[in-house]
Amino acid sequence: AVAPDLAGRRVVISAGGTREAIDPVRFIGNHSSGRQGYALARTAAARGADVTLVAANVDLPDPAGARVVRVSSAVELSEAMAAERAGADAVVMTAAVADFRPVTSAASKIKKSGAAPAPIELVENPDILAGLVVDREREGLEQTIVGFAAETDDVIANGRAKLARKGCDLLVVNQVGGGRAFGTEDNQATVLASDGAVVDIPTGPKEALADRVWDLVVERLPRGAR
Ligand code: C5P
Repeated sequence: AVAPDLAGRRVVISAGGTREAIDPVRFIGNHSSGRQGYALARTAAARGADVTLVAANVDLPDPAGARVVRVSSAVELSEAMAAERAGADAVVMTAAVADFRPVTSAASKIKKSGAAPAPIELVENPDILAGLVVDREREGLEQTIVGFAAETDDVIANGRAKLARKGCDLLVVNQVGGGRAFGTEDNQATVLASDGAVVDIPTGPKEALADRVWDLVVERLPRGAR
């Protein structure tokens, strides 16, 4: 049996990867499978949480016990997170968010014209994670905010800088390269906390990593709430 240490808590998790429309049939996307976010949703539900999963283009069955909100683009994800974050005890951003989107999406399918292809002009997407922190500070909420980051080198130094930049409480840093993390069954990470803690999570199933992340979240939740 699993300890119901998230009973009475509401958690919101984003998963998957955004798609930024170029025209009605094409997009700029990424290879995120959504598996780590789904594992976080399943494990949180098993520990008693009220779970909302905001899924961007994920091709996996809905996790048991979670309410699933489907989105596609970064702007849609941003709007869904803004709506769902209210009243959440913890918010976890595992989604791979496109940094840029096309300024406009063509109304009809772009065709070859024989001439040189038109460039796709890009504009920056909002940093959803950093925005969640700003909202929390403005409202003075007790809410634990968790980000994920993939780094290829200097994992700790780059992770620390990112943690500070985003302002979140925990940053789960995956070392990537060599086929790790994206689309695989197993995951490994170093979790950096704003309170200075550094926790290594060895390679293992994404469920095991998810449970370790929830342990760290539970330690930081205000006691006795609800
Ligand atoms: O800056 P970087 O993309 O490496 O940060 C990754 C973390 O920030 C992830 O938790 C991701 O969900 C989040 N993120 C975001 N909005 C963006 C880009 C990343 O919330 N536009």
